[in-house]
Amino acid sequence: MSLSKRAFSESAEPYPIASMTEHDLLEVVEIEESSGLSRWGWAAYYAELQSSNRGLMYVAHVARPLEQQNTENLAGYIVARVSGGELHINNVAVRNDYRRRGIGIRLLNRILEEGKRFEATAAFLEVRAGNSVARALYERCGFAVIASRPNYYSEPMEDALLMNAKLDR
Ligand SMILES: CC(C)(COP(=O)(O)OP(=O)(O)OC[C@H]1O[C@@H](n2cnc3c(N)ncnc32)[C@H](O)[C@@H]1OP(=O)(O)O)[C@@H](O)C(=O)NCCC(=O)NCCS
Repeated sequence: MSLSKRAFSESAEPYPIASMTEHDLLEVVEIEESSGLSRWGWAAYYAELQSSNRGLMYVAHVARPLEQQNTENLAGYIVARVSGGELHINNVAVRNDYRRRGIGIRLLNRILEEGKRFEATAAFLEVRAGNSVARALYERCGFAVIASRPNYYSEPMEDALLMNAKLDR
């Protein structure tokens, strides 16, 4: 067993957050597909992981006793990028069975902290206008709607709301 797997299985934190690795990608794509997000797919996550850009990619692990470990080791993930002093949050999702346990908010807060470390002063994201759950999460983390992009999303077509948060030092 790898050291990191042992560390997770013994962690007091039920959903420890760690940097995403190549080994996480199959599960990340599975979570993406079951969460109704716009599709990135394995190749796009892999390219982002390999990129020398300031990609920020984290996963929340499910810390289980060793005897209960199975193929479902991730509860959620978040992907963002820093560019020109701005943190752009691209994707965040939590497995259906693990929602409403504070995992989404921890992933988001972690990425906001990391964005500050990379000297971002503001964070931006787009969300489907009808995704009231995600909007509530973002508002909890200090985001506010600053603009709307009509018919931005397809399948189904829907407006996007652009949300922004100031990152205080
Ligand atoms: C959005 C999502 C990531 C939230 O993850 P989560 O782990 O369930 O969220 P948390 O438990 O951390 O909730 C944090 C806050 O978000 C809001 N929230 C979360 N789920 C909610 C729900 N079903 N209804 C209303 N508010 C909700 C609440 O303000 C909540 O705080 P509270 O529990 O103290 O009331 C998750 O629902 C998800 O994966 N959705 C599908 C993918 C998606 O829409 N991603 C965003 C794309 S822009």
